[in-house]
Amino acid sequence: SIKAVIFDLDGVITDTAEYHFLAWKKLADDLDVPFDREFNEKLKGIGRMESLELILEKSGKTFSVEEKERLASRKNEHYRTLIQRITPDDLLPGIRGFIKEIKKEGIVTGLASASKNAPFVIKRLKIEDLLDTVVDATKVEKGKPDPEIFLTATKQLGVEPAKCVGVEDAKAGVQAIKRAGMFAVGIGDQNTLSEADWIVSAPAELSLHELYQRYQNSN
Ligand code: BG6
Ligand code: MG
Repeated sequence: SIKAVIFDLDGVITDTAEYHFLAWKKLADDLDVPFDREFNEKLKGIGRMESLELILEKSGKTFSVEEKERLASRKNEHYRTLIQRITPDDLLPGIRGFIKEIKKEGIVTGLASASKNAPFVIKRLKIEDLLDTVVDATKVEKGKPDPEIFLTATKQLGVEPAKCVGVEDAKAGVQAIKRAGMFAVGIGDQNTLSEADWIVSAPAELSLHELYQRYQNSN
């Protein structure tokens, strides 16, 4: 049965996916690059520089490495401004209860986030003690959809991937979970997250009872 649940951060535990969107939107507007929510879906779950590359591709211009570094830091400054005000009230509804329910059952928990800001955000949310291990972008070489980040978390928890569940709001994240050989829970749109084993529209719909059933039926 399930021995570990590994969560993505942005868009799963808290709504920082919206802050990433707003920060990229501001940068794209400054660069006169069209940017909407549909395009933003492609950026979810992937790293800062990879996201920037996708935006710059649409500008039709070329940028030096230094310019790219400067633009990436500008986006990060917008983002940092937005996350300063995060408090424990910004946990998405249901998520704290779900994690507590999991831990009560003796299941261990982890975080696998592509964000270099993840340690800051979990500190602001005051959820450090709810997570048995944390892997952020600074600890891995390859980003999602590569499974490395989830596999690193399973190793740190000492649980084999087949007994681990991953929870994600991004297509690239669900792909990373599946490539790691884990059970994937998608939070969000059915079409975008179709590769997940179980899809809910919001964290409030997560229940350990239903997770057990879905997991069992998939095995
Ligand atoms: C992911 C987000 O968690 O982290 C992406 O889904 C974001 O939108 C990425 O770009 C990198 O975050 P950061 O904070 O390192 O720029
Ligand atoms: Mg996410």
